[in-house]
Amino acid sequence: MSIETLAATAGGTARGSRVRPLTLAKLVVFAACCTPLVMLVLRVFGIAGQSLGPNPTEAVMDVLGKWGLRLLLVTLAVTPLRVVFAAPLLLGLRRMLGLFAFTYIALHFTVWLTLDRWLDFAAVLEDVAKRPFITVGLTALLLLIPLAVTSTAGWMRRLGRRWQRLHRLIYPAAILGCVHYWWQVKADLREPLIYATALLVLLGWRVCRARASAHARARSRE
Ligand code: HEM
Repeated sequence: MSIETLAATAGGTARGSRVRPLTLAKLVVFAACCTPLVMLVLRVFGIAGQSLGPNPTEAVMDVLGKWGLRLLLVTLAVTPLRVVFAAPLLLGLRRMLGLFAFTYIALHFTVWLTLDRWLDFAAVLEDVAKRPFITVGLTALLLLIPLAVTSTAGWMRRLGRRWQRLHRLIYPAAILGCVHYWWQVKADLREPLIYATALLVLLGWRVCRARASAHARARSRE
């Protein structure tokens, strides 16, 4: 099936068989976001890619955790990129990116709960209470749950202005995600530093933009 037919089947045609750019972009992003998961499954079953090494559970968790964090940061990058490059199309991809970030993080947690802790809830509670990096990771996940649940158009309509306020929870969730990663790394801090720097830039951009629009509003009132 050609990509045009696929997009047409997904309801993405404007007129005749022409593909809308947003539909095409969504298909590309969907395929890109699925790729790390498919590659991981192939590694788990030994079909392709590197072996998972002596601790497969840890290796699977690491892949899922890293992709969850990367996609969370990419989701946060959508607004700045849209403004800087004047590309409104990007906004249409944000929900999908956010849902993929949540999916990877939820899988990361599920693997920990099942294959690492073997659903031993006493051990889970002990970990949450005694290992700060787990407490922080779990808090981040809990903050992301209402965002995933209310990501539909129906919830957006129902919540009105409160939707935007609620979805600001992505900021503390991303901060906690970076802290969680930083905290559990024992020696080489280079990679967590890259993610933390990216987050600082993305949050800094938002602070500067909010200040600039507050100034503009104050000046227009004078
Ligand atoms: C926003 C939420 C979260 C993000 C972004 C995240 C991300 C990450 C990342 C990037 C790593 C390091 C991977 C590596 O060293 O290569 C990691 C490790 C880990 N995470 Fe999370 N995580 C989150 C939530 C959670 C939750 C809810 C739990 C469990 C309650 C958890 C448990 C762990 C554990 C046990 C490790 C260490 C795995 C190992 O032994 O290498 N994480 N996480």
